[in-house]
Amino acid sequence: MIQIAPSILSADFSRLGEQVQLVEDAGAEVLHIDVMDGHFVPNLTFGPSLVKSLRDHSRMRFDVHLMVEEPERFIADFAAAGADHITFHLETSRHAHRVIQQIKELGMTAGIALNPATPLDGLKYILQDLDMVLLMTVNPGFGGQNFISNVIPKIQVLHRHLEQTQSSCLIEVDGGVNLETAPVVANAGAHILVAGAAVFAQPDPKQAVLELRQAAGLK
Ligand code: DX5
Ligand code: ZN
Repeated sequence: MIQIAPSILSADFSRLGEQVQLVEDAGAEVLHIDVMDGHFVPNLTFGPSLVKSLRDHSRMRFDVHLMVEEPERFIADFAAAGADHITFHLETSRHAHRVIQQIKELGMTAGIALNPATPLDGLKYILQDLDMVLLMTVNPGFGGQNFISNVIPKIQVLHRHLEQTQSSCLIEVDGGVNLETAPVVANAGAHILVAGAAVFAQPDPKQAVLELRQAAGLK
């Protein structure tokens, strides 16, 4: 079961509500929301108030991707704003297990993201507590970058491990997903495909979601 998660990073913010409606109409069930702090990544985006504004207008699952230092400082605010899921970066946390607990205690599901250069090894003793692992296929910070194909074996290895351990943890892939790369990551074992530019930088975002679903082998 593969899902497309449109990322609002490449949306037209002057009419964000409408843009979100378009992808919801296309059948997207997950909305990916990229939070950047200008420290962990060289870019700034939005905070909990944006999540709160969108919450009243959408029934999609809000998948918040924190690209911030000290993620533990922001989790309660995103929960209160209406997030359903929070992913934080392994590279930003010395107490990853504690952060996972914090997210779950607030009723959300929890994920950990790995940069392209970060090996899977650091997940070994926390994987059983995670609902999702996000494998970055670009260096985080910007939309519209090129897919880094070196990450494909990492997707395959994690997928095999999750199957062998009969884990229900999902693999999300984020960065450079388009009509060409969607089938590649789907075949490698990804369950959720984040797509920013391939949806919102297109003339018709609704049609773009439908085409990505098809490309990923979905009906
Ligand atoms: C990048 C973000 C991505 C971004 C992906 O740091 O985490 O979610 O929106 O954008 P595309 O799909 O354009 O590579
Ligand atoms: Zn993201």
